[in-house]
Amino acid sequence: MIKSCVIGLSKIGQIHCNNLKKLKNTSLNFVYDKNLILRKKTAKRFKCKTSNSFEEILRNKEIKLFIIASPTTTHEYYLNKLIQYKKMIYCEKPISLNSSKLNSFVKKIKTNKIKICIGLNRRFSDAYIKMKKLIKNKKVKIIQIISRSSNANVHQSVRNGGLFMDKGFHFFDLACWFANSFPNKIITIANPLSTKEFLKNNDYSDAVINMKFKNKVIVEYIFSRNCRLGHEERIKLFGNGFKIDSNKFFKKSIIYKNFDIKHKESYFRCLKKFVHLSKNLLLNEGIQTQKICDKVLKSAKLN
Ligand SMILES: NC(=O)c1ccc[n+]([C@@H]2O[C@H](COP(=O)([O-])OP(=O)(O)OC[C@H]3O[C@@H](n4cnc5c(N)ncnc54)[C@H](O)[C@@H]3O)[C@@H](O)[C@H]2O)c1
Repeated sequence: MIKSCVIGLSKIGQIHCNNLKKLKNTSLNFVYDKNLILRKKTAKRFKCKTSNSFEEILRNKEIKLFIIASPTTTHEYYLNKLIQYKKMIYCEKPISLNSSKLNSFVKKIKTNKIKICIGLNRRFSDAYIKMKKLIKNKKVKIIQIISRSSNANVHQSVRNGGLFMDKGFHFFDLACWFANSFPNKIITIANPLSTKEFLKNNDYSDAVINMKFKNKVIVEYIFSRNCRLGHEERIKLFGNGFKIDSNKFFKKSIIYKNFDIKHKESYFRCLKKFVHLSKNLLLNEGIQTQKICDKVLKSAKLN
């Protein structure tokens, strides 16, 4: 049995707590959040322990697996601590806000023989798995990705790295996965589309991004922090004589629902695969995506 702890207990952390309880070979032993009331309430809900001191949980040799589900601004701190104590790590995307430190981070992971997973869980979503199977022997030429959210909070977006790190991360990764390639040309228009509220906080609310991949696949993205219908997430794949639309694979009743409902099973599957695997999961993909985020941001600032 792998004993575990979840750090950061908002919606995403609670999903992980549930999944650790559901998995046969893991147990949820500790939860931690900087919010005292929330960590006590969550410990009660999941019948596990909490502590006022994170160091105390760290020092507990029995606790092997830690899930980082706190804001992205805190990832670097927790990653360093967990590596120091040689823990097994499931880190919510993105890895951290500082891409310049990625190389030394990978070195530390290797030197300390850390088993790590970056939570690119969308790859485990039913709809996207079906789409990936459908294009197995086909050549995708154009990918269109739309992600619009409703009731977005600018401060939460900033805490999680802004529009491209927070919202874009999964979609840049999915585009690489569907295209089987990596972008070499990126054009982003964001500033003139975005609202003052986001711009004042050094973030964007809206963006249109075009990418050309090394294998000539073209990817078009529309991101927005605003959608009257609810949360919209739609991916279309085009090639000679075919068009595959993700809306066909989602139930009609959940098309405009939150990502945590729409992709509920994907968090469980990603964690399950990682726990059963004897090596890292999606680390290279996470690093690659982080580099794409940086390039998109640079392009947004340029244009
Ligand atoms: N895989 C996905 O689809 C997905 C979806 C949403 C968010 N995320 C990622 O999950 C992470 C959390 O996102 P969120 O929107 O839930 O964040 P959030 O800002 O809502 O905060 C999450 C929780 O962390 C707690 N917290 C804040 N600082 C902390 C600290 N220093 N130590 C411990 N706990 C702390 C907060 O009290 C809160 O309960 C981010 O990295 C985000 O990118 C992933």
